[in-house]
Amino acid sequence: MIRLLIILLLPLSCLGLDNGLALTPPMGWLSWTRFGCNTDCVTDPDFCISEKLIMQMADRLSNDGFKELGYEYVCIDDCWLATKRDPSTQQLQPDKNRFPHGIKYLADYVHSKGLKLGIYEDFGTKTCAGYPGSEFYLQQDANTFAEWGIDLLKFDTCYSDSHDNKYGYPAMSMYLNQTGRPILFSCEWPYGELQQNLTHDDYGEVRQYCNIWRNFWDVGDSFESVKSIVKYYGTNNNLFQKYSGPGGFFDPDMILAGGFGMSHYQQRAQMAMWAMFSAPLIMSNDLRDLPIEARNLLTNQYIIAVDQDPMGTMATKVWEFNGLQLWVKPILPKGSLAIVFFNTNNFGSGTPLSSAAGDIGMSDARGYNVTEVFTSTNLGLFKPSSKLNIRVNPDDAYMIVCYILS
Ligand SMILES: *[C@@H]1O[C@H](CO)[C@@H](O)[C@H](O)[C@H]1NC(C)=O
Ligand SMILES: *[C@@H]1O[C@H](CO)[C@@H](O)[C@H](O)[C@H]1NC(C)=O
Ligand SMILES: *[C@@H]1O[C@H](CO)[C@@H](O)[C@H](O)[C@H]1NC(C)=O
Repeated sequence: MIRLLIILLLPLSCLGLDNGLALTPPMGWLSWTRFGCNTDCVTDPDFCISEKLIMQMADRLSNDGFKELGYEYVCIDDCWLATKRDPSTQQLQPDKNRFPHGIKYLADYVHSKGLKLGIYEDFGTKTCAGYPGSEFYLQQDANTFAEWGIDLLKFDTCYSDSHDNKYGYPAMSMYLNQTGRPILFSCEWPYGELQQNLTHDDYGEVRQYCNIWRNFWDVGDSFESVKSIVKYYGTNNNLFQKYSGPGGFFDPDMILAGGFGMSHYQQRAQMAMWAMFSAPLIMSNDLRDLPIEARNLLTNQYIIAVDQDPMGTMATKVWEFNGLQLWVKPILPKGSLAIVFFNTNNFGSGTPLSSAAGDIGMSDARGYNVTEVFTSTNLGLFKPSSKLNIRVNPDDAYMIVCYILS
């Protein structure tokens, strides 16, 4: 049945999904890493997946200065559904106790705050946590999401045969398009294939139907996890780079600043690398209880500017030496750069580095105005021959933005 659908697909632009969305990487909040599949609102009412939780996060995004910086999507992950579709209409329905007013009501609330609502479903017969999946109901579910006022769909891949992803994701993309409502399409298409040991090299195909796409394992709240993702993106740098740009971005998964598992330094190293990748900045944390240093990191104007750079380029990994990596990303105005040293070593007092600016990418004779990002400290003007003397902490990064002088 899925295979027949493909024949009906309209030819879409090969440049990317033409829905006007994700011209820069989407920013927002997602429930998964922090709140998981906690459905126990009886003994754990403040931490369970419920309309109350989502409304509180929307309040925090809009009242605490996040919205103005671009954090606009508030997203529900798995475990919002009732265990069965509506028996008479086969429509998806939320759990009645945890979402007593329904999803349309929640979307209206989120929209009233100037934000957008994201929701989760799965291409397979069930979601990863075992709730009803969309297989055989793709069109009906796309229409349901549009009627509810959904703005982003995260579409998972559990309980499906990943050989079918190349039919199912384009079909869902087409059905979303046919609703007439612009819905950002967040796909787990290549990740599903990876899980079943299928390789996926043609990201042009994915980009045609998806705005953002996961292609590696879930991020966990540990620096080991972050390092494994950075390593994967470094190893595949040449392949990935050419597919990143306005309308379509690789999604290395959530930002975990404000979580429990990483030091402040590790959290900022993650944030720096995600900005270098032009990755979505979708945080998963408790915005009601956010440590001040995590808040400062998440709202850092330089990191956000690098991430949201209109060219949407994925940084180049220039070298790796003794566990220290150099990444360089072109940003606007043309000729400007963001530079990150990412230190995977976790021993000692850090790696000192003294380098001519020209040797780490600042090779334009006009020179650069350089600012250290994490402390927002202006370092002054640099010519290619100027020396940059820094120290990169263990399990940390050092990040600068270098604006071209004219
Ligand atoms: C649907 O696709 C067409 C053709 O690519 C595009 O012009 C239109 O904006 C899309 N509509 C939505 C709602 O995504
Ligand atoms: C994929 O490969 C890994 C490692 O070889 C193996 O453990 C796993 O079972 C494989 N998965 C599938 C779905 O074949
Ligand atoms: C360099 O950047 C700093 C910080 O943004 C700014 O205050 C300063 O005016 C800039 N200097 C030049 C010469 O552009």
